[in-house]
Amino acid sequence: MRNRRSALAQRGDLLYNMPKRRPRFEAGGRGRGGSRGIGKESLMWIAKDWKDYEVLDTGGGEKLERWGKYVLVRPDPQVLWNTPRKLPGWSRPNAHYHRSSKGGGEWEFFDLPKVWQIGYKGLTFRLQPFSFKHTGLFPEQAANWDWFSELIRARKALEPDRPVRVLNLFAYTGGATLAAAQAGAAVTHVDASKGMVTWAKDNAAASGLSEAPIRWLVDDCRKFVEREIRRGNRYDAVIMDPPSYGRGPKGETWVIEDNIYDFVKETAELLSDDPLFFLINSYTTGLQPAMMAYILGLTLTPAHGGHVTADELGLPVTNTGLTLPCGAAARWQA
Ligand SMILES: C[S@@+](CC[C@H](N)C(=O)[O-])C[C@H]1O[C@@H](n2cnc3c(N)ncnc32)[C@H](O)[C@@H]1O
Repeated sequence: MRNRRSALAQRGDLLYNMPKRRPRFEAGGRGRGGSRGIGKESLMWIAKDWKDYEVLDTGGGEKLERWGKYVLVRPDPQVLWNTPRKLPGWSRPNAHYHRSSKGGGEWEFFDLPKVWQIGYKGLTFRLQPFSFKHTGLFPEQAANWDWFSELIRARKALEPDRPVRVLNLFAYTGGATLAAAQAGAAVTHVDASKGMVTWAKDNAAASGLSEAPIRWLVDDCRKFVEREIRRGNRYDAVIMDPPSYGRGPKGETWVIEDNIYDFVKETAELLSDDPLFFLINSYTTGLQPAMMAYILGLTLTPAHGGHVTADELGLPVTNTGLTLPCGAAARWQA
């Protein structure tokens, strides 16, 4: 155990390891980063395997990104540096999302199709310039997809006939759903927005996963979890990416700081007797990796043992070698 713990600490993870003993929490020492000597040396959990997507550069509160063959400029609150913006894409993007001082903002289009697609390891995602600077995909999530896909594949290799049941809550356009299904899981996909569920289904079809065992549900996540507990349904893994603030289909309010602990605790009741993983992701600034690790550790390890790691997610920036921080995740693994 000592070796495992120090190995994780060296990787820069946070480790919450426990049960039956007093809870332990360790903030890992940071290792060597790939940042060409600039800034924070960090490994983070980096989505580094993209071919169709890259952050080309960052500066002046914005990021310059390539999505397939299209270049976008979008605001990013993490980009606090005013470094020179020399790449030609800055002055000639295909579209630019301008933040408004009144809140929100709007797209300025130069030459961008209404809809286009990019791929990741056999999956295909439909992209669309969307409300509040979104495109329908959070590319940094690929770091989480790779992590849990490996766990699902390993279990399927050991027990090919036993289904791995995954519950994906606040499932958005289905990136995690498709990655889990591609790895061999049976997925229940829950989102409050009918439009998002339709988009996710389109992504499944584009990825050749129309016939995969995916249950698509338009529902409020909290109500769904309560009903599943009453019905006695169980899952081997849970993925959740709750928004800071959200509404269910009937106007149910979700405020992450008020609801996350009780919700994770409740959702943990849905785990099977032989669970595989539990992943929480968040883009809420106040919800640090350590806090997310504690929430998973406190709610899961007393009953299931296992261990928790947590870290920021990051995207490599081609022009500078920096890693752009993009939210955080905590991962419980049996
Ligand atoms: C994945 S979360 C956050 C996505 C992204 N990380 C962000 O910061 O915008 C957004 C998704 O949660 C869904 N959502 C919000 N409140 C919900 C609720 N109470 N029940 C189910 N889905 C909800 C939204 O429809 C949306 O697709």
